[in-house]
Amino acid sequence: MKKLLIRTWGCQMNVYDSARMAEVLAPLGFAPTERAEEADMVILNTCHIREKATEKLFSELGRLRAVKEARAAAGQGMVLAVAGCVAQAEGEEIAARAPYVDIVFGPQTIHRLPEMVARASRAAGLVLETDFPEESKFDHLPEARAPQGVTAFLTVQEGCDKFCAFCVVPYTRGAETSRPAAAVLAEARALVAAGAREIALLGQNVNAYHGEGAGSLARLIAMLAEIPGLARIRYTTSHPRDMSDDLIAAHRDIPQLMPVLHLPVQSGSDRVLAAMNRGHSAADYLRLVEKLRAARPDIAITSDFIVGHPGEEEADHEATLRLVREVGFAGAYSFKYSPRPGTPAARLPRQVPEEVKEARLAELQALLSAQQLAFNRARIGQSFPVLVTGPGRHPGQIAGRSPWLQAVHARADAPPGAILTMTAIAATANSLTCILQDASTRPPERDAA
Ligand code: 5AD
Ligand code: SF4
Repeated sequence: MKKLLIRTWGCQMNVYDSARMAEVLAPLGFAPTERAEEADMVILNTCHIREKATEKLFSELGRLRAVKEARAAAGQGMVLAVAGCVAQAEGEEIAARAPYVDIVFGPQTIHRLPEMVARASRAAGLVLETDFPEESKFDHLPEARAPQGVTAFLTVQEGCDKFCAFCVVPYTRGAETSRPAAAVLAEARALVAAGAREIALLGQNVNAYHGEGAGSLARLIAMLAEIPGLARIRYTTSHPRDMSDDLIAAHRDIPQLMPVLHLPVQSGSDRVLAAMNRGHSAADYLRLVEKLRAARPDIAITSDFIVGHPGEEEADHEATLRLVREVGFAGAYSFKYSPRPGTPAARLPRQVPEEVKEARLAELQALLSAQQLAFNRARIGQSFPVLVTGPGRHPGQIAGRSPWLQAVHARADAPPGAILTMTAIAATANSLTCILQDASTRPPERDAA
């Protein structure tokens, strides 16, 4: 058996791609390892979305070079590959600065890995595959899925046509595409057969999904909800502009669709939203939140924020804080703006000084953390179904997830995949402590048929 190490940075779509890479390489005799020293192949699956991605990659590559040389001295080989969005954006630079790398390939060519490995083994120099091929990778990946645990990721949409001024995604993942419903359904069934109870549908712009045979994400979710044994469905990441009425209604009508929505707003200032080319205003966002809560009153809304976008002034920052107070988020990621090479915002005048970004980020994060804690505390005393994801930290405990994606710790004895009705008795910013309500109660979610 040969050993394969995959290290993954970035979004869940990278996590999905890494799982698929392991699956295409398994027939070549590669089994997973965590240790570089024993790896016959190492893949670094990279992210380019924010700062220092390239520098992080090169320092990691420096460490791996030493391991590769040590293995070579012992008569063992190591195929070293760089994948993902940094590879896509900076393939040439990687080739120039790290000539000991054997393979550089982008997110759209992962299905060609076996062939790339064969070419690399013939030692014909660097194998570079960063084109956007005609064929879809999904049509050339194995149909069966390896077990992914209780929660499985399933990419249904890729790429982005929105061109937010700050973002590299349209350049690294390419134009927006949706997979046909039949392919998604077949993969979902394979994942459920391999043990998944919850599926997270992924896409850079997942709610713009318009795949053949479904036409919309709402319709696709309705089709997935028919799969026996699939208890929970969620999707990420969504753009406010594509939050259609039928998708909002799905949150009311489809019990398997979890009451969670990650809906990045980025800023609460209309001026900054326009500079970001977001195509929506703060009021548009607030209206959406209102509609969503009318359809599903308990829905947990989370978001992404960027502070210090070029041209952002104190008044704009205040507008963001106002919007946050008005919405009340269940959680959020917030970042300092980081100029990405090749994006329009990187060329804008009036870049915001670093110390101003720091101060604004600290203020925003304090508010968002307080909201997250308040959201978690509001569960105390409530009962709800908990999906068991694995054993807990201590014997006799389980780890699980609430319908709102909160991590749950509880004393209980149940295998991963079980759904237990529990009551929350304590909350922190990051988790809930629950007790078993009544093991014999049937959960309100549809269970395995
Ligand atoms: N600088 C800082 N944050 C960014 N994001 C995307 N591009 C940038 C950038 N250039 C953030 C956005 C996005 C999340 C995935 O990363 O908030 O929603
Ligand atoms: Fe990072 Fe975006 Fe690529 Fe995901 S798609 S890995 S977030 S750059």
